Amino acid sequence: MLTSIKRALKRRLAALVAEVVSDVVRRESSNQLFDISIERQRIALNNTARYVGRHMLHADVLQDRPHLLTFALERTTPPGLYLEFGVASGTTVNLIASAIAGPIYGFDSFAKLGDD
Ligand SMILES: C[S@@+](CC[C@H](N)C(=O)[O-])C[C@H]1O[C@@H](n2cnc3c(N)ncnc32)[C@H](O)[C@@H]1O
Repeated sequence: MLTSIKRALKRRLAALVAEVVSDVVRRESSNQLFDISIERQRIALNNTARYVGRHMLHADVLQDRPHLLTFALERTTPPGLYLEFGVASGTTVNLIASAIAGPIYGFDSFAKLGDD
């Protein structure tokens, strides 16, 4: 008896959770349908995909910015000063420092950019 009540309660709870989740998903997706910023990002992505399809089919695909930076540094380390403007927490400046022989100088205002 107790087991069948537990089972029935579990089923009812699962149904309620499913109802709430599907309601949240439905509301989120309908909000996104009217989000201009999201639509502009989709259009930009679509344009980029078309450009890549037309002009860059044989280009190397690098998974992220650190791989891009490493790829570039493996191919050229020009002589002269190495400077990074906008080091933030130092991810890229440290990556560059580990790939070059000489020093690298990093700068940062640590101030937000204006809103103009
Ligand atoms: C996106 S973060 C840099 C991330 C970093 N290069 C990395 O990936 O490791 C941009 C940084 O630029 C800095 N910044 C913005 N305008 C600046 C300026 N005029 N002079 C110096 N730093 C600036 C900001 O404070 C911020 O820390």
